[in-house]
Amino acid sequence: MNDLETLVKNARADFALTKVPAELENTKALYLGKQGSVTALMKNLANLSIEDKKSRGAAIHEARQTIEAALNARRQALAEQALQRQLQAQALDVTLPGRKRLTGGLHPVSLTLERIEAIFSSMGFDVAEGPEIESDWFNFTALNTPPDHPARSMHDTFYVENAGEPAVLRTHTSPMQIRHAVQHVKRHRSSAQPKNTLYDGDMPEIRVIAPGRTYRVDSDATHSPMFHQCEGLWVGENVSFKDLKYVFTDFCRTFFESSDLVLRFRPSFFPFTEPSAEIDIQFPSGPLAGRWLEVAGSGQVHPNVISNMGLNPERYIGFAFGMGPDRLTMLRYGVNDLRLFFDGDLRFLSQFR
Ligand code: DAH
Repeated sequence: MNDLETLVKNARADFALTKVPAELENTKALYLGKQGSVTALMKNLANLSIEDKKSRGAAIHEARQTIEAALNARRQALAEQALQRQLQAQALDVTLPGRKRLTGGLHPVSLTLERIEAIFSSMGFDVAEGPEIESDWFNFTALNTPPDHPARSMHDTFYVENAGEPAVLRTHTSPMQIRHAVQHVKRHRSSAQPKNTLYDGDMPEIRVIAPGRTYRVDSDATHSPMFHQCEGLWVGENVSFKDLKYVFTDFCRTFFESSDLVLRFRPSFFPFTEPSAEIDIQFPSGPLAGRWLEVAGSGQVHPNVISNMGLNPERYIGFAFGMGPDRLTMLRYGVNDLRLFFDGDLRFLSQFR
């Protein structure tokens, strides 16, 4: 093997050892660069006779071309390897199952609240919201339940300290009766009437529902320390118990999609209504048929409460009701434990999507 053949063989072997393009280009310089072996051989030609120059020159040139070819082949091989590595790294297994995107849904009680709002809106009721930390005045006193009134013990109240004034987590949505009515009267009070008297001028009727969270110290299968209520109030000049019966019956039948649902108004007591009634419903058929199920408290708004709204009870009269959307949801979907609604277990909640 002559020196050129050895050179070509070494170049091939060195190129084959390289693993990345940069390494290959460095190795190339050892042979073909300015300081490289091939270049050195060319420089030596100067010492040869013309004859030898020709043949030796041609041989060196051929060796150089062979080395360049080997270099290019190795370049291609390395590029090919790099591409393969990249493709492997990015490989997609199209046989894998797809990734599911979970879709959320409204909470069953939210579905009920939306339904309640839609039905009462269609009957001309506004929807109002109010604070969950409520002053003692709005939660009790303004609702004809002064301090030491025995009815206060019916509510297992959470008291809020350092609120600036005596405050509670509202035990019911009834304080919204006062809040909403006071605003309503303020907006519509005609300037002819002195500000500090009970209003007996003209105004549009008050027709409102107030859904929201309420709180009591209580927890079992049918009670949760946080639960929902929805208040209803209709005040005008000729609003009677007959209107309450009509409106609430219509609501229940629409809500439960049962036109022969039966209602019973059972005499009861609430400080803020007189007379008062508990409202029970009975399904004509289905698993709950034949049982009376309590769904709301109601009554004609007490004159003291009308006064606390800023209205003259000699002219204005109305009715109110307070119902439990949680219970309505349980009845509608056949759920037997209230706590399921608030445990946040997706196995339960996703059934309502
Ligand atoms: N606030 C009452 C409660 O939580 C429910 C209630 C009864 C509301 C009678 C009313 C009503 O508006 O008229 O037990």
